[in-house]
Amino acid sequence: MTTTEPDDEVPTRTIRLRVNGRQRRVTIEDRQLLVDVLRHELHLTGTHAGCYNGDCAACTVRVDGRIAKSCLLLAASVDGCELRTIEGISPEGELGDIQQAFWDSDAFQCGFCIAGHLFAIEDLLESNPEPSDSDVRQALTGNLCRCTGYTNIVKAAQLAAQRRRDAVEHT
Ligand code: FES
Ligand code: FES
Repeated sequence: MTTTEPDDEVPTRTIRLRVNGRQRRVTIEDRQLLVDVLRHELHLTGTHAGCYNGDCAACTVRVDGRIAKSCLLLAASVDGCELRTIEGISPEGELGDIQQAFWDSDAFQCGFCIAGHLFAIEDLLESNPEPSDSDVRQALTGNLCRCTGYTNIVKAAQLAAQRRRDAVEHT
């Protein structure tokens, strides 16, 4: 006979989050990582867990507007925060402009890394609307793509940046 620790001995708490514009309330174990709460409790499985140690950025989300690796955050630490995951990067059923640029540039293969790349490029273009290739590569230094599609990812970032500049010129 095996003995297992009863679940009620694990410290838990209920946290409130605003995720992709929707108020959510979830009971978590104090030790749970944000990436696991997003995937397993809130069923937002577009946030991927590639390494669990901050190396790959597949788990990237925005927390109160700032990009963050959700495997490095305890879910309890974001109680009360505003979160955006890859599911909220564009209106439901539509591609955002950076997603469209990835599509048009063949910038992904398996797609596992994409959330991290999209958020990193979105963050870059907010502060630097006309990045050099070197700026893009610098912004992506914390993002790993196992399919090694970096050349087209840089092209996609530049295409999105160009389209944003064109849109501004024509308004
Ligand atoms: S799973 Fe978070 S950085 Fe890799
Ligand atoms: S497209 Fe497969 S890991 Fe990046």
